[in-house]
Amino acid sequence: MTRIIAPKKSGNDNIQTPEYLCKKIIDYFSPSGKIIEPACGMGNFLKFLPNAKWCEISKGKDFFDESGLFDWVITNPPFSKIRKFLIHSYEINAKNILFLMPVNHLIALRARMRDLKKYNYQIKEILLLETPKEFIVTGFQYCVYHLVPLKSEKETLLKLSELIY
Ligand SMILES: C[S@@+](CC[C@H](N)C(=O)[O-])C[C@H]1O[C@@H](n2cnc3c(N)ncnc32)[C@H](O)[C@@H]1O
Repeated sequence: MTRIIAPKKSGNDNIQTPEYLCKKIIDYFSPSGKIIEPACGMGNFLKFLPNAKWCEISKGKDFFDESGLFDWVITNPPFSKIRKFLIHSYEINAKNILFLMPVNHLIALRARMRDLKKYNYQIKEILLLETPKEFIVTGFQYCVYHLVPLKSEKETLLKLSELIY
């Protein structure tokens, strides 16, 4: 008999984005203004965002306690909390949200697409990229989602692009 073992929900929560990929992503989007890395882990993104604010639960700074106004929220979020991280980013009215995550964890999930609409955000760009070798390899395509507030239905934007590295 085959036994199906459910994956541990928080098993992927502590995977660090390699520095070379953080640099590529920051160079690609050139964020400026008030920036936060809301789940900084070992701080690899922060090496390229010297003035950014950060949160990290293991250092006593919970993103869900953060209420500041930010031009950019940039992270590879904890896998088991992607939806909550998205919702909190919408709730604090982030002007730009960049989340490194599998494509299927937003656009393929009805509840998350409903959240996007409910909070009046839109997908500006889906930047596809190869799964870094440091990540757990699955068959799912990785990307950086760039989400922005929706100003008017007529302005709806969606760009599909690819980061070569
Ligand atoms: C997938 S790791 C990514 C770390 C880093 N963002 C990077 O890209 O290298 C996610 C991190 O989120 C942290 N975390 C989980 N829940 C959090 C919360 N509520 N507030 C802040 N950090 C949290 C975890 O401790 C972990 O270090």
